[in-house]
Amino acid sequence: MLRRLIVLSGVLIGVTAPGLPQEETHGVSGLDAIAVRQASLDMSAITFHSMEGAMKAGQEPKSQGYPAMVLAKWAKALPRMFPPGTGQGETSAMSQALPLIWRDRANFDTAAANYAAATARLASLAAANDRPGFTAQLEEVNRACGLCHARFKAGDQGPPRK
Ligand code: HEC
Repeated sequence: MLRRLIVLSGVLIGVTAPGLPQEETHGVSGLDAIAVRQASLDMSAITFHSMEGAMKAGQEPKSQGYPAMVLAKWAKALPRMFPPGTGQGETSAMSQALPLIWRDRANFDTAAANYAAATARLASLAAANDRPGFTAQLEEVNRACGLCHARFKAGDQGPPRK
């Protein structure tokens, strides 16, 4: 029981106190980063298409606030899930991340920042329940995905074939 309490309080301290050493732990491997980003990008595609479907089905934009906000949240984390050494052919994992990401890091980060701005705007248009604005912004978000893929991702758009 005591051990359990100690473990629990350790967890709580880790969660509540910012700046503790746990925050600086570099325990995520390159293979982990690849797995995380691919899963998140797959879920991004699902989330994006669910929003398109909701609009086609005549739902209100404000019902899409959560999925829009989640894409915006992920967009901010996305560039950090591309650490050096995790490109196509650099690990045992299948990856379509082109070497240009690391040779032209500034433009990759700009593409990610544009995507973050597009999704943040999508979330605020959802909150405003602005139907024409939200529908048009979905296109902008789609463009932000495509612009990054065209330069930095191998293969086609769409779900992975593997
Ligand atoms: C800043 C660049 C960037 C943006 C923005 C971006 N992607 Fe990607 N995406 C990539 C890269 C690079 C890969 C290849 C990752 C890998 O294979 O390791 C990828 C891979 C994918 C994959 C394949 C994942 C897998 O399992 O192999 C899907 C699906 C995807 N993206 C969908 C999207 C969608 C949908 C959006 C927008 C809502 C988006 N992406 C926005 C760069 C981006």
